[in-house]
Amino acid sequence: MTQQNVNLGDIYKAVMTSEEFSRLSAFIYGEYGIKMPEVKKTMLQSRLHKRLRELNMTSYKDYIEYLFSKEGQQIEVIHMIDMVSTNKTDFFREPVHFDFLHSHALPELLSGDRSNRQIKLWSAGCSSGEEPYTISISLCEFMEQHPLLAFDYSILATDISTRVLKTASEGIYKEARVEMLPLNLKKKYLLRSKDKTSPTIRIIPDLRRRINFHRLNFMDNAYNVPDSYDIIFCRNVLIYFDRETQEKVINRLCAKLKPNGFFFLGHSESITNFNVPLKQLKPTIFRKI
Ligand SMILES: C[S@@+](CC[C@H](N)C(=O)[O-])C[C@H]1O[C@@H](n2cnc3c(N)ncnc32)[C@H](O)[C@@H]1O
Repeated sequence: MTQQNVNLGDIYKAVMTSEEFSRLSAFIYGEYGIKMPEVKKTMLQSRLHKRLRELNMTSYKDYIEYLFSKEGQQIEVIHMIDMVSTNKTDFFREPVHFDFLHSHALPELLSGDRSNRQIKLWSAGCSSGEEPYTISISLCEFMEQHPLLAFDYSILATDISTRVLKTASEGIYKEARVEMLPLNLKKKYLLRSKDKTSPTIRIIPDLRRRINFHRLNFMDNAYNVPDSYDIIFCRNVLIYFDRETQEKVINRLCAKLKPNGFFFLGHSESITNFNVPLKQLKPTIFRKI
């Protein structure tokens, strides 16, 4: 791609037309399942504005031409979805799920002669890693509280955005992100940076090594990941999809869940009237039939 020197003012003036929005929103919906109704035009324009600046482009017309070129379909699509996806997350978000792990799921999975076993978990739509690290902390805490229940665990964490996956695999966060964590957890699982001007923490290596981060698009026809997960978290992801896509994604995830495996959705998501092999245990907590 040739880059010219352009006036910054011209980039700031760039406005997305309704036609340009329609082309982009149809592509985003078709490729990634993310709904983009017309009301999201301003949001899409402002999120892609940064890409125009970085590419030295003055119009969305040029941007679309590049995006749909051969090079754009290999390179720019990755940057575009980084901008378009909403990655809001937190450590210990929706704590009722982690309480349920301790009170029900883990005791059951580790009961009887099933001790000494490996628990496999999947954080599907993991964003910048706070969810899989929270799962990892919860499992370590459970192990410490139940020294007689020997078990090992591994976590697969996937997302479509390479930007958030990079943060997730580094495991470095601003200290403010972990402010609400109890001091004893901070001491056990976080390392503090020496930089006092911009303090950061890093997740300890023992937690990081248990998690495999991979790029995966929920719109793929089949998910190229190992089978037989005991527990799948897919929280606050399906809200961006329409009903039909939600049902398809849940069925594909359930194909990777063991019989009786546990499945967690986000607080505003449900499977009411879906044809999926799940039965509800509590709001947003299910198990595979
Ligand atoms: C709001 S975050 C939720 C993060 C975490 N599960 C939580 O509840 O805190 C939603 C994530 O879904 C990812 N996502 C959106 N569409 C996707 C797709 N088609 N395939 C895979 N991940 C997708 C986004 O990149 C984003 O990181």
